[in-house]
Amino acid sequence: MGSNIDAKLFRQALGAFTTGVTIVTTVDEAGNDVGVTANSFNSVSLDPPMVLWSIGRSSTNINTFIAARHFAVHVLASDQDTLASQFSKRGVDRFAGLQLERGPGGIPLLDGCTARFQCRMAFQYEGGDHLILVGEVLEFDHYEREPLVFKGGRYAFAMPKSNVPSAITADPGAAPGAFAPDFLIYQLGRAYHQIFMRLQPELDRHGLGVPEYFALSMLGVRDGRSLSQLDSLVSYTGTRINADCGHRLATLGLVQASAETDAKLALTPEGQCAVIKLLAAAKAASEDAENGFDTSETHLLRQFLNRVIDATDPGLPSPWSS
Ligand SMILES: Cc1cc2nc3c(=O)[nH]c(=O)nc-3n(C[C@H](O)[C@H](O)[C@H](O)COP(=O)(O)O)c2cc1C
Repeated sequence: MGSNIDAKLFRQALGAFTTGVTIVTTVDEAGNDVGVTANSFNSVSLDPPMVLWSIGRSSTNINTFIAARHFAVHVLASDQDTLASQFSKRGVDRFAGLQLERGPGGIPLLDGCTARFQCRMAFQYEGGDHLILVGEVLEFDHYEREPLVFKGGRYAFAMPKSNVPSAITADPGAAPGAFAPDFLIYQLGRAYHQIFMRLQPELDRHGLGVPEYFALSMLGVRDGRSLSQLDSLVSYTGTRINADCGHRLATLGLVQASAETDAKLALTPEGQCAVIKLLAAAKAASEDAENGFDTSETHLLRQFLNRVIDATDPGLPSPWSS
């Protein structure tokens, strides 16, 4: 760098400016599709409608963009990070397997993004080691999809800052340091039990208790487990799956009865039907719990819960592994 600015630190400081991620596409003179991932996109003018982005002078596609009469900017959706990586790699066919529409001058248009701007090249400006390209927007599309975010060199979700007050707040008179509403153990426990309560009517309909529900859920994942195998999967919850539980399931006609001790249990057709209904009720209860969450919040909740599970796992067996 010509000045006394440290290039690495400068780049890191610029990374503090969180952006969306776009793919800019055009066609070269031979009619080949060209596209690059770019986060330098910005709005310029409303009237006339104009946008800009900048391309690195070292890009193998710089001459194509200098000569281009049109380009399209695709603002990527939160599930398009793989596509963003694909369009920033050299030596791969970036358009392989993609469904394309065509815009002005035959430029390729991608789908699945959250906004798309079809532009006529209006101006080009020097920008140091980049060239600034300004496009006049001829047409645009906007879809109800969450945007992909680029933050500190990584892809991320945009999460709204929640200002929804919780009904659970500490009594100002509570002893300082006492059990508090934001203790994770309290929050997770209360959330779990509140969701589980919603399943109770379905359990009652089938005449099932919690051990039978757990046993059926585990058999629904993989049939043919013995009572002791089922018990080893759920005993960490404090609920035990024992001979009584097996007997109740057999009496209700939900599993095939067997005289052997610790025989493998097999769901009957009625048992399979009960599992489907319980699963539907469990899914509905989970969806209700996430009512009002957008897709990024739902995804992040799952991600955080998995991290808590991993961080606290004493080595429990998994219902999904054989
Ligand atoms: C998130 C992200 C943002 C990027 N933003 C730009 C950009 O604004 N301008 C640019 O020229 N390259 C940008 N790049 C790099 C290009 O996508 C690409 O890697 C580079 O142009 C090299 O490929 P090329 O020689 O085929 O153009 C970005 C890459 C990533 C992953």
